Amino acid sequence: SKKDHVKIGIVTVSDRASRGEYEDRGGPAIVDYLSEVLSSEWTPVARVIPDELYTITETLQELTDLEQCCLIVTTGGTGPAKRDITPEATLAVAEKEMPGFGELMRKVSLEKVPTAILSRQTAVIRGGSLIINLPGQPKAIQECLDAVFPAVPYCIDLLE
Ligand code: MTE
Repeated sequence: SKKDHVKIGIVTVSDRASRGEYEDRGGPAIVDYLSEVLSSEWTPVARVIPDELYTITETLQELTDLEQCCLIVTTGGTGPAKRDITPEATLAVAEKEMPGFGELMRKVSLEKVPTAILSRQTAVIRGGSLIINLPGQPKAIQECLDAVFPAVPYCIDLLE
């Protein structure tokens, strides 16, 4: 069945990481997190891409429609700066918006840092994929995933 080879997309959205100006720390932090919480077999499909609307939408479409990832987690590009457009790209490929994810992640993050109000992260459904935005800060990755992860397997089950 599909469950025997579950793929999970991990998308780092960062101009500088994609140019090799610094090492991507977000993607590996997501892989580490998932390795800890998931008991069954899964395969990461990782991408490091610049903050370009077309590149992000194309990558999300590839990971949903072609790779058939059940879950895709993005990191970066959720802030208010001019180049931050990950939520717009995510909404552009969405069939359904799942606003509860962003609401809960901001609530939890706000208890740690007041600047969490600057994150516009969201989550959406496209086909059989749940796509979740995380902020770029590696520390935010664990905080945000801890908050929403209990609902993730249930959500994916409902997409089949
Ligand atoms: N959330 C957590 N948990 N921890 C953080 O440090 N940084 C905030 C916010 N959310 C932060 C956070 C800040 S300062 C901004 S600008 C946005 O996330 C950054 O999102 P980005 O890195 O995806 O652009």
